[in-house]
This record gives sequence, C-alpha cells and structure tokens, in this order.
Amino acid sequence: MRSFDHHIGIFDSGIGGLSVANAVYGLLPRAVLTYYADTAHVPYGPRPRAEILAFSERITRFLLDRGAQLIVVACNTATAAALPALRKQWPKIPFVGMEPAVKPAAAATRTGKVGVLATQSTIQSERYAQLMARYAGTVEVLENPCIGLVPQIEAGELQTSATRTLLTQIVQPMLAAGVDTLVLGCTHYPFILPLLREIVGPQVQLIDPAPAVARQVARRLQGIVTTDNQQMAHQFIASGAYSALATYTDIPFVECAG
Ligand code: DGL
Repeated sequence: MRSFDHHIGIFDSGIGGLSVANAVYGLLPRAVLTYYADTAHVPYGPRPRAEILAFSERITRFLLDRGAQLIVVACNTATAAALPALRKQWPKIPFVGMEPAVKPAAAATRTGKVGVLATQSTIQSERYAQLMARYAGTVEVLENPCIGLVPQIEAGELQTSATRTLLTQIVQPMLAAGVDTLVLGCTHYPFILPLLREIVGPQVQLIDPAPAVARQVARRLQGIVTTDNQQMAHQFIASGAYSALATYTDIPFVECAG
C-alpha cells in the first residue's frame, strides 16, 4: 500500500474537471485525489445560479467529510456561481477555482480579437463581467455559450460528425471576425482539443488553463501539513450514471458510490 502526502478533492458537473485532475496528477503524483462528477445534474451551464451554488456546497461538504484538505472547483460555471460563498462558509479550507483565461488571451492576441468558449451561466456571471473589465482592455472579446457541447463530450462524442458540425458552427463566426486566440472557458473543452485544432487550423492559439491551475494547487498545498491519509487510492464518484472513465484519464481511479 502506498501512502500519499495530501488529499485533494476535485469536482465538476461531470467528467470535464478530469482535464484539471489530469494536470494536478501530472504535477503532484504524491497527492491522493477524490473526484466528484455531478453527472446527475450535468450540464450546469443552463441552470440558475442558486441551484449551482447548492450543488457546489453539497459536494464540497461531501469531499471535506472524506478528508480532502484542499478543494479544486474544476468547473468555470461552479466557480462563477459559488466560489466566494464556499470560501466564506469554509474559511480555513484552501479553494482553487477556474476562470476563463481572458488575461493571457488578451496578452497573446495579435489581431486584438479573442474568442471565449464557455457556458451560458459563466458568460452571464458577475465574475466574468469583472474579469472582462479588468483584463480585456482594448481587446475585442467574442463569446459563445456552446449550447449542446458539454452533453456531446459527456456522451464520449469527442470526434463524431455531430460534434464537428456543432463546433464548426460555434467557432466559424469567430474566425471570420478575425479572432486569433480562443479561450477554453469550460473544463470539458480540452477533451475536444484535437477536433478543435483540426477545425481552426494551426495558426489559432488555444488556451487551456489546466496547467496553470495545477501549479496554483501546488502553491496552495505548501504549508498544509501532510497527514497520514486514510484514503489509499484515488477515488472517482459520480452522482449519476457514468462508465467511460478510461476515455478521459490515466489516473488509476477506483470507482466508488457517492
Ligand atoms: N465543466 C464545466 C465548466 O467548466 C461545466 C459544464 C456544464 O456542466 O455546463 O464550466
């Protein structure tokens, strides 16, 4: 039996947050992960903020009860809806959230035009408005709520013609408008990166914040005392049905009941 240094709880509406879990696992192989996929309620994107907040609180409590020492809100939508409330409710727990990478995108664009792919709830959030006010500057930002894309990814349709058609409809107007940088503002989207790259071609910059988030997790873990963790394996918990885990991760998860 191996022992682990830290216990990290990670959640998302579904399997999207595994794009973040994969980066965390790559950087911190000695941490044990408990991943919660709220597949009974995916997608979060079209839901009202209060509902997403309630789900996030319940999942956070669940992960803390299991012994998690740090929580990664591996969901842009849940971060926008719930992060300040979670921090207020559990002031001693370090939380790491996600937000669309508008800042690096604004610094990277050469055409002065950036596209943000995110959910409806994220785009409509106050947090996103603040992010734009702070970092967009003179850069023109075009958003798309990518309706229907998360369910395609949850269904494992990463390369099908239906997903290609949907993704083309989403990004084509952005490309036609001169966008040269695209922000993956939802943790599900890194799983369709190969398809997206095919559609947009080699010149467009695609920004996935997962590696930066993993580095932030590592920073926040400094100073947290290593415990003798009871949990001896990475655990994956889904609130609803889910089975195709191996499509999305190499982390040796044990699938557990919630
Ligand atoms: N993966 C999520 C995000 O980063 C949520 C997607 C959804 O459930 O709509 O926004």
